[in-house]
Amino acid sequence: MKAVIFDLDGVICFTDKYHYIAWKKLADKNGIYFDEEINNRLRGVSRMDSLEIILERAEREYSLEEKEAMAAEKNATYVELLKEMSPADLSDEVKNTLEELRTRGYKLAIGSSSKNTKMILGQIGLGDFFDAISDGTNITKSKPDPEVFLKAAEFLGEKPGDCLVVEDAMAGIQAAFDGGFESAGLGEATGHPQVTHKMDSSKDLLEICK
Ligand code: BG6
Ligand code: MG
Repeated sequence: MKAVIFDLDGVICFTDKYHYIAWKKLADKNGIYFDEEINNRLRGVSRMDSLEIILERAEREYSLEEKEAMAAEKNATYVELLKEMSPADLSDEVKNTLEELRTRGYKLAIGSSSKNTKMILGQIGLGDFFDAISDGTNITKSKPDPEVFLKAAEFLGEKPGDCLVVEDAMAGIQAAFDGGFESAGLGEATGHPQVTHKMDSSKDLLEICK
């Protein structure tokens, strides 16, 4: 293993609650039922695909124009919430694990579906840390498609077989498997049948990446 590709939301930092608040505000405004369980299904999924999941509970059809306006409105709320994030939102455990992996010589990258990746990394003090960033701005297909991780490996100049993907989402483990990557799962991702390593927390990476 030469490189580690990290998912962002739910692995490096915890933005689930902000996604939830922003989607909930939009759903309530439009009279659409939305709860934490539905929010869990949005993990790793792109913004537009997330909206489609939310609209499963809507009572009418929405035009593409309306959907684009809804996604933009949700993102505006979300970005306002992200402005509250700071380096205090990066845990000591994640920070120390990243630094130790770098000391051990691993290349480190981000592989995230989020188009807000660079803003979030800046907020938590990791704006210049990673060797490569592959995110929602450079892909055409979201996880579970492997594109975001294949691009991350390409940006690093490494083969998928030499990169470990770290994920908290089922869709992310599927993407890693289909792209030919080993994976390390956190939380619900440990339940995926194709996960290579099951972790309790991110410091377990130091046992996997000796
Ligand atoms: C992923 C999150 O990282 O990014 C998803 O897990 C989210 O929940 C997706 O929908 C897209 O995020 P953004 O910031 O582009 O709306
Ligand atoms: Mg995630």
